[in-house]
Amino acid sequence: MSEGFDLVPVQIRVNGTLYERTIEPRVLLVDFIREELDLTGTHIGCDTTYCGACTVLMNGANVKSCTVFAVQAHGSEITTIEGLARDGKLHPVQEAFAANHGLQCGYCTPGLIMSTVYLLSKRQKPTDQEIRKGIAGNTCRCTGYQNIFKAIRAAAAADDNG
Ligand code: FES
Ligand code: FES
Repeated sequence: MSEGFDLVPVQIRVNGTLYERTIEPRVLLVDFIREELDLTGTHIGCDTTYCGACTVLMNGANVKSCTVFAVQAHGSEITTIEGLARDGKLHPVQEAFAANHGLQCGYCTPGLIMSTVYLLSKRQKPTDQEIRKGIAGNTCRCTGYQNIFKAIRAAAAADDNG
């Protein structure tokens, strides 16, 4: 942290817990999540807003957390990959990615899963085209995407993908 920035108080609810911190206004949401809260499941894969590895839900919508200042999230509800499992049970979208081998190195996976959760919250049975659009902001360097599509289709076919 360098000198010269006034500190700003923020309150951000992350995965159901309210966090209050005093931060520099230039702090990115992704750095707040990773460095302040130690939730390192949200990844940083680029510095050009391209890769989508940093995707989280902000008030229910998927955002690239490297393009949002933490102060802009003041008063917001954030969900990260760590917030999806319930009572020790993986979220159905996580289950579908695991069951359908929708990952290789896994670096892109948290972001892809968060975008899928958002997509399925809007369109329970998306078309292939809607799936493509839904994950257009998420880049995977390993899989060739076929198993990712398979995983998303499987999640959409599950009874409860909320
Ligand atoms: S880290 Fe690549 S889009 Fe955010
Ligand atoms: S599984 Fe390696 S980048 Fe997607």
